[in-house]
Amino acid sequence: MSTTEQRVAIVTGAARGIGAATAVRLAAEGRAVAVLDLDEAACKDTVDTITAAGGRALAVGCDVSDAGQVEAAVERVAAELGAPTVLVNNAGVLRDNLLFKMSDTDWDTVMNVHLRGAFLMARACQKHMVDAGFGRVVNLSSSSALGNRGQANYSAAKAGLQGFTKTLAIELGKFGITANAVAPGFIATDMTAATAERVGMGFEEFQAAAATQIPVRRVGEPADIANAIAFFTGDAAGFVSGQVMYVAGGPLN
Ligand SMILES: NC(=O)c1ccc[n+]([C@@H]2O[C@H](COP(=O)([O-])OP(=O)(O)OC[C@H]3O[C@@H](n4cnc5c(N)ncnc54)[C@H](O)[C@@H]3O)[C@@H](O)[C@H]2O)c1
Repeated sequence: MSTTEQRVAIVTGAARGIGAATAVRLAAEGRAVAVLDLDEAACKDTVDTITAAGGRALAVGCDVSDAGQVEAAVERVAAELGAPTVLVNNAGVLRDNLLFKMSDTDWDTVMNVHLRGAFLMARACQKHMVDAGFGRVVNLSSSSALGNRGQANYSAAKAGLQGFTKTLAIELGKFGITANAVAPGFIATDMTAATAERVGMGFEEFQAAAATQIPVRRVGEPADIANAIAFFTGDAAGFVSGQVMYVAGGPLN
């Protein structure tokens, strides 16, 4: 890469939460960032934050579980920002339910967004990474990969992403591409706020209760996860691949 060329990152689910913090952080690291989410208009705040700080960003509307939309989105990023060589598969949804109440749709929706979405995005981006002889893929797993009541679908998807990550590391390493997974514990976002509401607790109370179970005695912030992703996607991390890093305020695995 010439010194004037800027690496291009795609962060999925970047309209809010961990994805937004990651997009802003990667832009601060000097990447041009495609801020991808279901609704292009919802990406505006993240894009504005990046451009206000002097960075380059593009809002992209795309459902990561739709193959046609993914192909079109990645080609648009390549045309408007440059070839994407950093990919953060962060888009996610919850459809929690105990097994006996979990619907087919609850199962399929979670598999489609997390697993199929990560697969489609990685497949669409890998050719740009291979051409560049450089690539960084980070998949968002979760502490729930180790098992969590009410999350048969989500824990299976997040464990599946760990296997997917390791296989990408093995297949793509010879092209200068690394693949790693970041597995957050409890992070304060709209996702955990929705869980608090579902179980009938105020979000503050829910976070305080969670913090008592975490060795560092606090819940995580999106920036805690963005920091780990910035490391894995950095040019200097080329010998770190196929790893799963739990970022959870204590040991989990
Ligand atoms: N918050 C936590 O405690 C926590 C813990 C472990 C793992 N995670 C994982 O981190 C990631 C981000 O979580 P968050 O807490 O920021 O969630 P969030 O709900 O705040 O944000 C998720 C984003 O993904 C987008 N999205 C959902 N489906 C999509 C699709 N099909 N295509 C494109 N975008 C889509 C949403 O619109 C939203 O902007 C998820 O993969 C989540 O599973 C979160």
